[in-house]
Amino acid sequence: MRTIYRNSPVPRYHQLKEILREKVSTEEWKPGDLIPSERELSETYNISRMTARQAITDLVNEGLFYREQGRGTFVADNRITQQLLQLTGFTEDIQARGQRPSTIVLSAAMHPADAIAAQRLRIEPGQMVFRLRRLRLADEEPLAIEESLLNFKGCEALAEEDFENHSLYQLLETQYGIPLMEAQQEIEAGLAGQAESETLRIPVGSPVLLTRRTTYTDRNRPVEYARSVYCGAKYTFFTHLKRDRLFS
Ligand code: GLP
Repeated sequence: MRTIYRNSPVPRYHQLKEILREKVSTEEWKPGDLIPSERELSETYNISRMTARQAITDLVNEGLFYREQGRGTFVADNRITQQLLQLTGFTEDIQARGQRPSTIVLSAAMHPADAIAAQRLRIEPGQMVFRLRRLRLADEEPLAIEESLLNFKGCEALAEEDFENHSLYQLLETQYGIPLMEAQQEIEAGLAGQAESETLRIPVGSPVLLTRRTTYTDRNRPVEYARSVYCGAKYTFFTHLKRDRLFS
C-alpha cells in the first residue's frame, strides 16, 4: 500500500489525493463504488480527518467523486469534468483524471478571422490569425473537436509546432511567454451534424455541448478564441456556486 510521507514537502492532503486518484485509474475502485469514510481514511493513512476531508472535497470538486447525503462518497462515472472555476486546458483536465490525453491535428494554418472571432479577438475581420483544428481524445476515445483561433505577434510560428505531442497552453506559456490568466466561456446545447458525428464517432443527432472561449493574457489581451464541440454523453461541466446575499 502507498503511504503518506510525513517529511515530504508535498502536503499530506495532496499525497492522499494522488493515492485516491490512483485507486480510480487502476480500477481498484470502479464507478459507483462507495469510498472509505473520512474516519477510515484517516485511520488507514494515519492522518487527521481534516486532511482526509480536504482531499475528498477537492476530488468531489474535480468530479472524480460525488457525495450522496447520508450515504457517503462514491466514485463518479467516466464523464470528464471540466471545472468552471479555474482556467485549465484539455491536457490538464484529462491528466487530472488520471487518463491519457491525445490529439489528432485536423488542420493548422493561418486563416482570415470571421466577424465574430475578430470581435472577440479585438481585431479587424479578415485579419490573418492562426487557426488550429484538433480532435481531442482521452485514453484513445474521441471527446471533442476544438477550433482555436490565435492572435498574437508572431503567431504564424505556431505552424512549426507539434500539436500532436504538445499542449497549446503549455506551449504558449513556456515557449512564447504568453501567460494565460483568464477566460470567458459560453456553453450551449446542440446536436451533432454529419461531419461532427464522423469525427467524434457518435450517431448524427447525438447531444453535444458547444463551447466558445475567449482566453486573455496577463495584460488582458485576448489571445485565443476557441469553438469546441464536446460529446454530450461524456462531459460534465462543474461549477461551484456561492451565495453572498440572502433574502432578508
Ligand atoms: C480547452 C479549451 C480550448 C483550449 C484547450 C487547450 O479544451 N476549450 O480553448 O485551446 O483547452 O488545451 P491544451 O493545452 O491541451 O492544448
